[in-house]
Amino acid sequence: MEDKKEIKIAFATDHAASQVREAVKNYLISIGYEVEDFGYSGEDSCDYPDYAYKAALSVQQGKADKGVLICGTGIGMAIAANKVKGIIAATVWNDDTARLAAQHNKANILCIGSRTATLRELCSMSKTFLQTAFEERHSVRIQKIKDIENKQN
Ligand code: RB5
Repeated sequence: MEDKKEIKIAFATDHAASQVREAVKNYLISIGYEVEDFGYSGEDSCDYPDYAYKAALSVQQGKADKGVLICGTGIGMAIAANKVKGIIAATVWNDDTARLAAQHNKANILCIGSRTATLRELCSMSKTFLQTAFEERHSVRIQKIKDIENKQN
């Protein structure tokens, strides 16, 4: 388990998550995390890459330790966040995949879906992800992923 008191979270959502965003954000704060909210706070349709990018940059630059992004499925947010160098964004759909994304894949951003999970599940997956440490035995594979990234222009 990592010390949650020291972890700052970059948080972002799109319009699909408007009904759950405040509840998930407040839940993260209630369990001791510092949360920086990068939007989107409205209900009108918006473009998730705009918010994924802002939150991913914060993680890349070390201003936030990890990220939690919510869109309809968690897929679009992950695709966008993974374009930012240094980001490993994982779409997960239950507590097991949330745990494994941290433990095996060294994900630094969690992407979850407001249309594919309940509020309770969204909170639980976030907590599981944030409180699970990476297992160093997987580090060779993570380095190979970074090597691929470094070969790009
Ligand atoms: C928005 O309708 C939806 O496409 C978005 O929230 C997300 O699910 C994309 O992956």
